[in-house]
Amino acid sequence: MRKICIINQKGGVGKTTSAVNLAAGISRNNKKVLLIDLDAQGNIQTSIGATSQKTLYHYLIENAELTECVSILGKNLDIIRSDETLTKAETIINKLPKDNFTVLREKLDGIKGYDYILLDCAPSLGILNQNAMLYADEAIIPVSTDHLGMDALTKMHEAIQQLNDHFDHTLKITRIVPTLHDARIKSSKELLAQMQNEHYETLAEPIRTNSKLKEAPKAMKSIFAYAPSSRGAKDYEALVRLVLGDEIHHRTNGLKSYAATET
Ligand SMILES: Nc1ncnc2c1ncn2[C@@H]1O[C@H](COP(=O)(O)OP(=O)(O)OP(=O)(O)O)[C@@H](O)[C@H]1O
Ligand SMILES: [Mg+2]
Repeated sequence: MRKICIINQKGGVGKTTSAVNLAAGISRNNKKVLLIDLDAQGNIQTSIGATSQKTLYHYLIENAELTECVSILGKNLDIIRSDETLTKAETIINKLPKDNFTVLREKLDGIKGYDYILLDCAPSLGILNQNAMLYADEAIIPVSTDHLGMDALTKMHEAIQQLNDHFDHTLKITRIVPTLHDARIKSSKELLAQMQNEHYETLAEPIRTNSKLKEAPKAMKSIFAYAPSSRGAKDYEALVRLVLGDEIHHRTNGLKSYAATET
């Protein structure tokens, strides 16, 4: 089972768009996916629809059954939604006398039967995101190709390094995804070139700015269902292929936790 957090402390860089479309795209490739919303704004629920009675808050704090908190969105796609109650969960976790960095890991480790668990993180480095990073094996970092994007990426690198050192953890940045890319804008082109220079090994192809990606959540659909021939669908399809390809790459490298037989 691959456990991937989609994370960047900078807001509005395409985390939720990437999480939703990666989850939908991966699930269309016969992989069973659980997408978890770690943002109290509940963007996933409004982006793609989720009808479960209970939320991540109930699962984490009130020991609700997983089945009560999961919405089934397709043959291979399940979602645990969040709403403003997640803020309450964060406060409670913050006040725990000890072990408050591993609450998510302890709860989510009980979840089996998926090939992929994707976490859509909020724009922060607060306790919930630290929990997410300690649960996940991999991070995918969407980075906007604007002048603040590189700065945010450097900060994320530092935060992950510190967390790994402090907790003896091995969270790995598997992919950096340039988002909101517009090759007609000089600064966007220059930033992409800089990312290609500095992060050649992990950099994905850019996700171009595409109005269909903005419209799809309003129709509560993934880009593949909403506009399958759009540039947005093509770009996310390429990202899905890359992430699926990483599975084979990591397995052949002998890293544990990628083996499909575990699920
Ligand atoms: N490639 C794209 N082209 C056009 N619009 C996009 C693209 N990617 C994201 N958007 C839009 O940009 C806005 C921010 O995207 P999104 O919500 O995915 O970012 P986020 O990083 O999850 O934000 P937050 O930090 O607030 O959670 C949304 O309105 C989304 O529809
Ligand atoms: Mg978001």
